[in-house]
Amino acid sequence: MSIVFNSKSNQFYLHTLNTTYIIEMFLGEIPLHAYWGKTLHDLPSMQEWQTQLIPNPIETTVGNVRCAKMLPQECASFGLGDQREASLILSGADGNRTFNFVYFDHSIINGKPSLDGLPSSYSEDTEVDTLIIRLRDKQTALELELMYSVFAKVDVITRSMRIVNSGESTVKLNRIASACVDFYNGKNKELLHLYGAWARERTEQRVPLMNGVQKVASNFGTSSHAHAPFMALVDKNTNETQGEVYGFSLVYSGNFEAIVDMSPSDSVRAMIGINSTDFGWQLKPGGTFQTPEAVLVYSDKGIGEMSRRFHRFFRRNLCRKNFRDEPRPVLVNNWEATYFNFDEQKLLEIARKAKSVDIDMLVLDDGWFGKRNDEHSSLGDWVCNTQKLPSGLKGLGDKLNEIGLKFGLWLEPEMISPDSDLYREHPDWCIHAPNRPRGEERWQLVLDLSRDDVCDYLIDSVSKVLESAPIDYVKWDCNRTFSELGSPKLSPECQQEQAHRYVLGLYRVLDILTSRFPNVLFEGCAAGGGRFDPGILYYMPQIWTSDNTDAVERLYIQHGTSIIYPPITMGAHVSVCPNHQTRRTVPMKMRGNVAIVGQLGYELDLTTLSNEDLTVISEQVAFYKKYRTVVQQGDMYRLLSPYDSPVVAWEFEKDGTVLLCTFVQKGKPNTYAVPICLQGLEPDATYIQQDTGKEYSGEFLMQVGIYCLHTVDYQSEIMVFCKKSF
Ligand code: DGJ
Repeated sequence: MSIVFNSKSNQFYLHTLNTTYIIEMFLGEIPLHAYWGKTLHDLPSMQEWQTQLIPNPIETTVGNVRCAKMLPQECASFGLGDQREASLILSGADGNRTFNFVYFDHSIINGKPSLDGLPSSYSEDTEVDTLIIRLRDKQTALELELMYSVFAKVDVITRSMRIVNSGESTVKLNRIASACVDFYNGKNKELLHLYGAWARERTEQRVPLMNGVQKVASNFGTSSHAHAPFMALVDKNTNETQGEVYGFSLVYSGNFEAIVDMSPSDSVRAMIGINSTDFGWQLKPGGTFQTPEAVLVYSDKGIGEMSRRFHRFFRRNLCRKNFRDEPRPVLVNNWEATYFNFDEQKLLEIARKAKSVDIDMLVLDDGWFGKRNDEHSSLGDWVCNTQKLPSGLKGLGDKLNEIGLKFGLWLEPEMISPDSDLYREHPDWCIHAPNRPRGEERWQLVLDLSRDDVCDYLIDSVSKVLESAPIDYVKWDCNRTFSELGSPKLSPECQQEQAHRYVLGLYRVLDILTSRFPNVLFEGCAAGGGRFDPGILYYMPQIWTSDNTDAVERLYIQHGTSIIYPPITMGAHVSVCPNHQTRRTVPMKMRGNVAIVGQLGYELDLTTLSNEDLTVISEQVAFYKKYRTVVQQGDMYRLLSPYDSPVVAWEFEKDGTVLLCTFVQKGKPNTYAVPICLQGLEPDATYIQQDTGKEYSGEFLMQVGIYCLHTVDYQSEIMVFCKKSF
C-alpha cells in the first residue's frame, strides 16, 4: 500500500517510487500540507514543530472557529482569517461566506474511482491507491471530499475535490480549486508555464515569483492557445537535468486557472482548477459538484524528469485503451494541398501517390459538406456536397479502400454558421447573450453544449456521418472561442454555469461517440493546437499540435508541447515549401525529421512533388514505421533547446534502442562542432551506431558525446544506436 496513516502524528504518507507527499490532520481537524518532495519516511508532527516555522500560527479565532492563518493548507477555505488567495470560495443563501470544513472521516482504497462526468486517469493494474478525506461544515451540513490517488510506479499523485450539499439551502460555488499546495518559502522559486497564440502554441516562459498573485488562465471557453492548463514551480537553478520541479496539470478542456500567491512572508500557495472568473455554480440541496482532476508531479532531477513522468502517465494512465498503444496510420491531409478547392478526382490522385510511398490514410479536411467553398457557411449542415464528391462519402471511402488507403474525415461539430440550414432552423442553439449582437469569429458561432438537446443533436448528426461511409478517423476541429456567454435554457442565477456545463456536455458527447465507434481514431484540433489538454487526450489519443507546419517553428512548438505531453500525442505534418505560414524553405529531410518525432503525416499535394522528394518521403515513412515505437513509447530527453542553441537535439530511448535527432536551426560557418551528450544510457553498455557500425560505450556517449557540425542552415540527422547484446 502506497498510503500509510500514522495515527500518532495524525499524518497520511503518500509514497510513490521516488517521492512522498504528507498531509497532517492538524489538531485532528484541519488537513495541512506537511511535505512534498523526495522520499521521506518520518516527519515530526506539525503541532510539534510549527512554532519553529511560523510566528503565532493560530493566533486568531473567528467566533469559535479555529483559524489556520499562516499554516500550509490542503484546502484553503475563504473567510477564516487566512488572507491568501482561497482555494474554496462559497456563498450561502443567507449571504454567509464563512465556511469551516473539519475532518470527520477518511478511507484508503486500492484502485481509483472514476470522476462523475469528467475524464480522469485510471490504472489497469493494482498500482494505484486512493485516499479520501472527508470534511464537514457543521453549520450547513456541506461535505467536502479531498481525493488523492497515488500512482506509485510512475511518480504521480492526482487530486480532486467533491462537494456534497446535504443541507437544506442552495450554496453558490465561486471557486473550487482541484488542488492547493502551500510551500513555506518561494524566495528562490520561478514559475514555468506555456503561453502562446495561433501558430505559436506552447511557448516556454519562466519568470521569478513575486510577492503577490500570478495567474495563468483561459477565458476562451477552450483550454486555449493562450495558456496550457499547466504550471510548474522550479528553483532558480533548476534546468533540464537538475533541480527541483513541482508540476501541476489539469485534466480539463475549458476555462482553467493556475494561481500562485506568494505572501509578504514569502510562503507560496499554488492552485489549479476551473477558472473562477465568471464561474458561479448553484449547488442545490442534495446536489454534488465534482472538480476536474489535477495531476501533480515532483522531480528533483530537473524539468526533463518531470516531463518524462508526465509522458509515461498520460500515455499509460490517461489516454484510453483503443489506439493507446497501437501504431497509428501515417496520413496525408488535403488541407494545405487544396484548401476548399478539391473534387473526388483530385483526392484520388493524391491517394494513389500516397499509396505509392506507403502512406496509410487520406484525410479529407474542411469543405466537403453543405455549400462550403470558403469559411462563410454550412457548419452544422453535415451533408456531403455531391458537386465535389459525386459518389458521396461512401463512394469516396470505398474508392480509397480499393486503392489500399483508410479514410479520415474532418468535422467541426461544435460550431454553427449563421449561413446554414441548422441555424435557420434553430437560431437559439448557439451561445448568445439575450438581445445582444452575436459576435462572429471566422463567420461562425458556437453551439450551446450546455444544452442537452444540442448535445443530443450533435451525437446524432456525427453518428449519421460516421455510419454513412467507411470512416476510420475523425479530425475533430473547433475554430473559435466563446463570447457573449448566455443560454436561454439556464435560469438567470445559473448563467455562470454555462462555460463548465459546455465542457461537461462536450465530454458526454465524446464519451458516447468514442464508445459507439471504438474503431474510429479521433484526433483533436482547435484552430491548430488551441485545445491541447489532458481532458481531450482522454478521448482522443492524438491532437493536431499547430497549424504552423514550418519545421523550424515546429522545433519550438514541439519542444514546448513536450514539457508535459508525450510525442505520441502530437500530430506533426510535413508541408510544402515555401511554408504557408512563414514562407521559409527547409529541405524535405529536415521537414520529415521534425514530423517523425510526432505522429507523422503529410499535408501537401503529393501529385506535384518531384520524384526525388517522393523518394525521400518513402524513405521517411519506412524509417518512421521501423523506429516509431522508440519515439512514441520510449523516454524523451531534450538535450539542446531551440531557445538557447543553434543546434536542437532530442534523444529517444526504449529498451536499448536510441534515436538521436539533430536539427540545425541556424547555420554558423567556420565554428567548432557542438558536443551533444546523451542521457539515460547504461554507462557500461556498448551502443552500435546503425549506419556506420561504430561502437561507443554508454559512458562515452553521455560524457563526451557526439559532435554535430552546424555550418549550414537546416541540416538534420537522425542517428540510431542499438545496445549490443552479448
Ligand atoms: C483549422 C485546422 O487547424 C486546420 O488544420 C484545418 O483543418 C482548418 N481548421 C480547416 O478549416
